[in-house]
Amino acid sequence: MRDFDPDLPAQLLRWYDRHARAMPWRVSPDARRSGVMPDPYHVWLSEIMLQQTTVAAVKSYFEAFLRRWPTVGDLAAAQDADVMAAWAGLGYYARARNLLKCARIVANELGGIFPADEPALQKLPGIGPYTSAAIAAIAFDRQATVLDGNVERVMARLHSVEKPLPDSKETLRALAAELTPLERAGDYAQAVMDLGATICTPTSPACGICPWSRSCQARAQGIASDLPRKMPKPVKPVRVGVAYVARRSDGAVLLEQRPDKGLLGGMLGWPGSDWAEALPDHAPPLEADWQDAGAEVRHTFTHFHLRLRVFQAEVGPEARPLQGRFIGMEGFDPADLPTVMRKAWEVGKG
Ligand code: ADE
Repeated sequence: MRDFDPDLPAQLLRWYDRHARAMPWRVSPDARRSGVMPDPYHVWLSEIMLQQTTVAAVKSYFEAFLRRWPTVGDLAAAQDADVMAAWAGLGYYARARNLLKCARIVANELGGIFPADEPALQKLPGIGPYTSAAIAAIAFDRQATVLDGNVERVMARLHSVEKPLPDSKETLRALAAELTPLERAGDYAQAVMDLGATICTPTSPACGICPWSRSCQARAQGIASDLPRKMPKPVKPVRVGVAYVARRSDGAVLLEQRPDKGLLGGMLGWPGSDWAEALPDHAPPLEADWQDAGAEVRHTFTHFHLRLRVFQAEVGPEARPLQGRFIGMEGFDPADLPTVMRKAWEVGKG
């Protein structure tokens, strides 16, 4: 392993003491010092939400979840559909299904207590290597190494690792582990993430105010903003599909709950075709005078771009759908839909 200045963790922690970002789930370094421990439920909930989602997008969801379900026991007792609706808009809906499974295991089998070590945390649904390390470090001050995109970038620059990601991942993990201190492991984990998010940013790092600038090898070589190098990403294919937005004369709308497995699993959506590179065979969910809504919905998922044609129809009280069920006006809130379905509503509502 490469040598590093043994004062690096302490330098970063001194920086964090002054510049830690305030976050609703976070205990400030001052409060931590006076003995306040974070609530593991808050740490777990925030870290699940923060997987693939920005801090800015997560804040209001985190606060809404805590208002509605203040403890893991409250969340475990929630209706599945309420939790899926509250998650709508955050994306990656498997996270919400696993969130509920995990809450129920913690509440019903573990006496409401989250485990503190990484192997036990990883046995729970939705908790992988990153999240188990974040919870162990932040909630329990265990010497665990978190490796997210921010930390990878900071390590690649500090040690000038030129091998591209993803092949360099294990090298970066080892470097991050070597630096992780025994004392204040939770603050340290959050400090590296904050450094990556606010100073060691992807395109124009603020090296002039970085607590690690004197030790940074990429900076010394003038290549900080070129690292980490990355293998080119495969181009995303385009898929097409059709969605049907039916409105009944009393204002009810025709929605279906998508199967638990697969994309947008367990979420509400408009009936329609499958999504594929060529439009699959499909039939409307009921007989009606379907009109092309004109505009096409565009939405990008992890592995493909979607172009969705939207058809709309007004139907009478006698309508009997073959697919989905009518939800009355009072029970329908477009905010409960995943983003692509909310976009289809905007186009199809007429
Ligand atoms: N991203 C994921 N978890 C985080 C945390 N605890 N602090 C800052 N950024 C994060």
